Amino acid sequence: MADSWVNLAERIGSDLHLELTGPGGRRSLLIRTLRDAVRDGRLAPGTRLPPYRSLAADLGLARNTVAEAYAELVAEGWLVARQGSGTRVAPRTEPVRLPRVAKRTAGAAPPTHNLRQGQPDAASFPRTAWLAAARRALGAAPNDAFGPGDPQGRHELRRALAEYLGRARGVRTTPERIVVCSGVAHALRLLFGGRVLRGPLAVESYGLAFHRSLLEEASVRTVPLSLDERGARTGELENLKGVRAALLTPAHQFPTGGPLHPQRRVSAVEWARTRGGLILEDDYDGEFRYDREPVGAVQGLDPERVVYIGSLSKSLSPALRLGWMVLPEHLLAPVLAAKGEREAWASVVDQLTLADFIDSGHYDRHIRRMRQRYRARRDRLVATLAANAPHIAPTGIAAGLHAVLRLPPGTEHSAVKAAAWQSIALDGLAGFRHPAATMPADDGLVVGYATPPDHGYGPALEALCQVLPPAES
Ligand SMILES: Cc1ncc(COP(=O)(O)O)c(C=O)c1O
Repeated sequence: MADSWVNLAERIGSDLHLELTGPGGRRSLLIRTLRDAVRDGRLAPGTRLPPYRSLAADLGLARNTVAEAYAELVAEGWLVARQGSGTRVAPRTEPVRLPRVAKRTAGAAPPTHNLRQGQPDAASFPRTAWLAAARRALGAAPNDAFGPGDPQGRHELRRALAEYLGRARGVRTTPERIVVCSGVAHALRLLFGGRVLRGPLAVESYGLAFHRSLLEEASVRTVPLSLDERGARTGELENLKGVRAALLTPAHQFPTGGPLHPQRRVSAVEWARTRGGLILEDDYDGEFRYDREPVGAVQGLDPERVVYIGSLSKSLSPALRLGWMVLPEHLLAPVLAAKGEREAWASVVDQLTLADFIDSGHYDRHIRRMRQRYRARRDRLVATLAANAPHIAPTGIAAGLHAVLRLPPGTEHSAVKAAAWQSIALDGLAGFRHPAATMPADDGLVVGYATPPDHGYGPALEALCQVLPPAES
């Protein structure tokens, strides 16, 4: 096919050569060649392609071959066909890279619509109140605050946290049981990488892949617990050989969204008591509950059998890298030993600022303000779906910063792909599933509603509705 090399300059107004060489039939060769031309930018978005007949004549192909190739590229999202205006290269920016969860390739263009779960609304960071707290904290700090620092964390912060967590989350603790760290991931690294605890560890069948891989790096085998409408099936713990600890998200299962049923909370703690084991409670967004009072921490049931782990990553900002563990007594010394002499993680200045921010009531105020804001966002998502895609059920919506849209079986992969081509960043449920999970795999999209700026939220929801699978007829 060496003579099928053509110059389309006069028809599409650019210096483009299509060379149909290589293996495969003519149709797939043409598809591949056109796709490559769009991908590498030789065919720019909006460029009108020649009519079937003339391209077929130029390339010595059957008209149908060209028509089929165009149709395939339209279905893949590379081209768009409009009545009366022919076939054009789709008007889109760089596709979002898939299927990594919460990762963007260095140098890739940011998505047009960011509906990926994981981040709070960055524009709502309370800059003025945080600055004022920092100023007060720095003014009041004793000189020793500017020394090497206490690996357990500043006592001002541990005192403020003990009061706040008791009042707002039902955690039973004193400042002496709290260890400040840089977030949930750091807590898991200290516990398992520091050999305070050993695997195998029970985890939920759907969870954060990042946590699973950091556990793997610490040579900890994870064993999946099934989930149902009551949350993790904690009854399965009894049959797991060698498992002495379970990592759970009781306030708001991540990512499917329900709270752990009260009976399951009790049975998990009972299991830990009988087995001499532990529940690791990841309370990553426990404050954000919309339709009733927040669900209190499981830790309140038995502080000696539960490690409570919290973080500012959802409530304030993941950039602060501040979190905390509330430990049973017997784990305090080993965790501090794992942490080592020098605090290498959480800035003392930020710790003092947070202590002031909590003590002065600004943290509570911020949470209340954000709760209203996220609730309004959630309501808008639910209303948009009801109006435009009533066959898609949003679930896990009573709390948190994301919802799971349940899809008809077998449609998740194509919906995620379609979203990527429309430059919408989001994840399918499959990206959160434990590789050894045995429960049925439901199709769904995990949609974060906190991140888009106000002016971008409506367009993001509109774009989302365009990529949802149609109702089955
Ligand atoms: C399930 C889950 N746990 C914990 C966190 C917080 O992690 P970190 O405190 O390490 O930022 C997140 C995300 O913010 C999460 O989705």
